[in-house]
This record gives sequence, structure tokens and C-alpha cells, in this order.
Amino acid sequence: MRPTVLANFGLVTALRTLADEAAQRNNWTLEMRLPADDIQLDKQTEIALFRVAQESLTNAAKYARASKVSIALAVGDGQVVLYISDNGVGIMPADLTRTHTQGLLGMRQRMAAHGGRFDIRRGVPNGTDIHV
Ligand SMILES: Nc1ncnc2c1ncn2[C@@H]1O[C@H](COP(=O)(O)OP(=O)(O)O)[C@@H](O)[C@H]1O
Ligand SMILES: [Mg+2]
Repeated sequence: MRPTVLANFGLVTALRTLADEAAQRNNWTLEMRLPADDIQLDKQTEIALFRVAQESLTNAAKYARASKVSIALAVGDGQVVLYISDNGVGIMPADLTRTHTQGLLGMRQRMAAHGGRFDIRRGVPNGTDIHV
């Protein structure tokens, strides 16, 4: 399934819209670093990145109690990097080692299926950092 905004406006606009709406709903200060122009990636890769962003922001809304969220996308050198972080309570070490929870498992599998890597860690001094 290809989200409508992604299909119609591309990945950069889709991520911007997703993050803007989540920030409004949750009263986050939003820091966005996205490419100025839209980028074209393999469609399946775009969907995978969009889904990871969606799940990460949903988790931040549900669990983080954050006041600030950052999202960045960078493309170059045959690589695309998506970074999402919040300044909330921070994911617990126990949650990082549990492998069966649907959201984290899904993101990890999605990325592995597209030759990518998914990394989530507790921020210093707080919050949660996700690197794809
Ligand atoms: N941004 C976050 N801040 C704090 N805790 C988080 C965050 N993201 C995930 N978690 C913790 O990790 C757990 C696993 O996340 P996930 O696999 O998405 O499962 P679910 O959202 O279904 O509970 C969550 O239940 C929550 O306790
Ligand atoms: Mg989740």
C-alpha cells in the first residue's frame, strides 16, 4: 500500500506533512532537516522509509512525553539516511533487547528487506534516537 501523499507529492513532502501534523497534535517543537528538492528513490524504499517515520513518530507520541522532535533526511553517495529523535523519557534498555514487539521488529525487518539498517538507541542524556 502506497500512502496517498507519498504517491502524489513524493517522499520529502510526505515526510514534511507527516512530521508537521504529528508535531501539531502533540505540541512538539519540530526540527526538520529535509532536502530542499524532492528526491526520487526506488518506490519500495520510499514506502519503507515513510512507514518507519510513521511508526517512529507514533511511538514518540505514545511513549516519549517529548517536547521536541527532530527529523532529518539526507541523500548522497548512494546512501539515504533517515534520522528521527525525541527528547522524551527515552526507550528502556529492556525494550531495546526485546525482539518481538511489533513496531520495532517491523521497522528492523522492513529495512533489512531493502538492504538497509535500523538502529534505535536511548539518547544521551535522554530521549530516543533512530537511525536508518
Ligand atoms: N520514542 C520512544 N520513547 C520511549 N519509549 C519508546 C519509544 N519508542 C518505543 N518505546 C518503547 O518501546 C516499546 C516497543 O515499541 P514498539 O515495538 O513500537 O511496540 P508498541 O508501540 O506496539 O508498544 C514500546 O512499548 C515503548 O515502551
Ligand atoms: Mg509502536
